[in-house]
Amino acid sequence: MNALSLKGLTNGRILLLVFILPLIETSCQKNATDSEFKFPADFPSIQYKNLENQLTPQKIHLGRVLFYDPNLSSTRTISCGSCHAQVHGFADHNLPKSFGVHNRIGMRNSPALQNLAWNTHFMWDGGITHLDVMPIAPITDVNEMDLPLGEAIERIRENKQYLNLFKKAYGDTIINEKTVLFALSQFMLTLVSDQSKYDDVRRGKTNFNQIESKGYQVFKNHCVKCHSEPLLTNNQMEYNGLTVKSKDLGRFRITQTLKDTFHFKVPSLRNVALTYPYMHDGSFSNLDQVLKAYQTKFQLENHDLEALRAFLNSLTDHKFISNLNHAEIHPFNP
Ligand code: HEC
Ligand code: HEC
Repeated sequence: MNALSLKGLTNGRILLLVFILPLIETSCQKNATDSEFKFPADFPSIQYKNLENQLTPQKIHLGRVLFYDPNLSSTRTISCGSCHAQVHGFADHNLPKSFGVHNRIGMRNSPALQNLAWNTHFMWDGGITHLDVMPIAPITDVNEMDLPLGEAIERIRENKQYLNLFKKAYGDTIINEKTVLFALSQFMLTLVSDQSKYDDVRRGKTNFNQIESKGYQVFKNHCVKCHSEPLLTNNQMEYNGLTVKSKDLGRFRITQTLKDTFHFKVPSLRNVALTYPYMHDGSFSNLDQVLKAYQTKFQLENHDLEALRAFLNSLTDHKFISNLNHAEIHPFNP
């Protein structure tokens, strides 16, 4: 994301007040159907806070249609799903940096989208603090979708086929920042990954093999401080010691505090085998490169690396990447 779009977004709460609160009264609507979607009971309680935006199947579905709608970009060619692909755990198609409209290249690597309900900070520098305002950044960013938010809303309004989806979701056809952003949050909240082999082991359904077990030990010794269980991130901005020079100062951009230089949000390692290349700038092309870099830092043996790799592979959630509820759909031919 460029500096401009970030600047206005560093405090999600302010945006919420500006964009969303004034609209809340206009469309308070209780939904008749309760969601069948449930967060995993053995995860910590969710961090997403918006009591008004209770999950319903209709709102989730609307959010999914919006997520895959390329009309939200100026050229009508790029959707959220263009850079966040299900087969890669909703990271990009193995590009260090993503292409936005007119093949413009952004500043950072597209992160996986998973377990966002537990996130307290978004973006590599943690500069956004509420999921509901998150889509404003990519929609308006000149290197991404490059469309003013108002125009995006206008395009949704003009498309008569959306009316029915909004009616089903909200009980009326009010299409505004709030109803659009809330629906996008709903879909994103359902992107839950909790079905990897690691989770099956956690739940006592199966066991690690020998090398995975060893890798898990090494992981617990060196990595869980930041990649904390079970989400495999502590949700903080940290310095992992691997960035020595970079134009991207990370968390410093937000706090202007020297000690935050090169601090980046700890990425969850769920589905990490699928989300290469790695780090905020996509500068590590495969896991071996990452592990080699950490080897020096933590003085690991070669067999530790091999074990770590086996453990990291156990974090791939095949059910998540093939879940049909998350798959790309043609907006009006679902
Ligand atoms: C052109 C590629 C591109 C498009 C299109 C795009 N994103 Fe992203 N997304 C990114 C990049 C790159 C980042 C990280 C930006 C940063 O840290 O500065 C990101 C970050 C995010 C995050 C934060 C994830 C986290 O864990 O911090 C969310 C949520 C997200 N995008 C949702 C969306 C939604 C919703 C849309 C559509 C409205 C969208 N994105 C469109 C590239 C894209
Ligand atoms: C001090 C906190 C910390 C510790 C300890 C730590 N990491 Fe990280 N890790 C991070 C941060 C921060 C990033 C993102 C850095 C960036 O984007 O430049 C990261 C990135 C990664 C990535 C890339 C993920 C992606 O999606 O880009 C992998 C893989 C990884 N770490 C594995 C490990 C392993 C394995 C260990 C233990 C040997 C470990 N980390 C220890 C903080 C840490």
